[in-house]
Amino acid sequence: MSTITVQTASKTYSVRIGHDMLHIFRDEFLNELKGFSKVFVLTDKHVFSLHKGKLDTLLQDLDQVTYYVTPNGEEAKTFQVYEDVMTKIIETGLDRKSVLLAFGGGVIGDLGGFVASTYMRGIPFYQIPTTVLAHDSAVGGKVAINHPLGKNLVGQFYQPEAVIYDTSLLKTLPVREMRSGFAELIKHALISDQALLDELMATFKTADDFYSKDLTPFLEKGILVKAGIVAQDETEQGVRAYLNFGHTFGHALEAYGQFSRFLHGEAIIYGMLYAILMSEATQNLAFDLDELISWLDGLGYETALPSDVPFEAIFENMLHDKKTTFEEIKMVLLSQIGEMKLVPCDRALILQTFNQMKKGE
Ligand code: NAD
Ligand code: GLY
Repeated sequence: MSTITVQTASKTYSVRIGHDMLHIFRDEFLNELKGFSKVFVLTDKHVFSLHKGKLDTLLQDLDQVTYYVTPNGEEAKTFQVYEDVMTKIIETGLDRKSVLLAFGGGVIGDLGGFVASTYMRGIPFYQIPTTVLAHDSAVGGKVAINHPLGKNLVGQFYQPEAVIYDTSLLKTLPVREMRSGFAELIKHALISDQALLDELMATFKTADDFYSKDLTPFLEKGILVKAGIVAQDETEQGVRAYLNFGHTFGHALEAYGQFSRFLHGEAIIYGMLYAILMSEATQNLAFDLDELISWLDGLGYETALPSDVPFEAIFENMLHDKKTTFEEIKMVLLSQIGEMKLVPCDRALILQTFNQMKKGE
């Protein structure tokens, strides 16, 4: 087990990560929770049915605990679910000394954090992540819900009190979700250093390895990459945009697929391939893309963009990206692994790269 300190301009907090962390950290965590008037646990149906026992063991000595169970997946990051959660919170009578526990993946963390940040102008919350992807989403304080026209368009920067990451919970993740989360780990390698990418490629060769190899040390490395960037730039005035590598195209694809066709990480894989192609064309990136694609194929990722995805819809969605200003789309590109730049991209270049991505081309 280890503790990583996340230091941001607004708050410093710990990420406690390790196998059985909810058990190991139980007494300390319980003491912290006893300092709050009420505990509101936000979770989704899958996590509730699979892992409620873990939290019950933790929370059984507290009187004022309420669970709220959302639908699974992106469906929970909607205005409707946000309102439903708020209604329950108000009915439950949470006050400013209450706390919210976001127990789930990136969706629950983003929704829970957004609810906590807006209820009574802000109550404390903890991230208790249950997915591989959440090594990214639970750290750094970006909280948000989606709008049908764009991903994470309604949100805040709002840091948790702490992150308690019990990696024993990851064993129940379906393989598609493992892959989706692992995409963000690949992103953390591509934006930090070749050695981490090499290590990932050497350790994880097929999807079975997600279950048989120890993911925890890699999740820690991913968290350290993220924490290092967030420490420099909490509110994305500069370098934090680099954490968006692959996301300009990826988010556009997710929105095109109405947040249900592509999982977040699946879209980000396409987005990173797109950004690498563009980096090769404009930033002199020397990169063995074939090797990366064949590794991704071996892990079971789809790497050829489906032929029915239309350019115009993707381009339109990219215009809604949060990095777009003055109607100028900006993408995070690489000149080498770990060397990023935010680059304005015109329509012709975006189209040219899109055509390169199309299936069979
Ligand atoms: P998710 O929260 O929807 O979880 C994926 C699926 O796995 C869900 O069906 C969930 O019910 C299930 N699940 C969760 N834990 C499980 C477990 N232990 N065992 C079995 N099933 C489990 O999705 P995610 O991939 O964790 O997160 C994706 C979201 O994170 C996206 O909305 C994305 O925008 C967001 N995100 C946010 C940030 C950030 O900085 N805030 C960063 C990256 C991604
Ligand atoms: N996932 C991008 C960020 O946290 O800034």
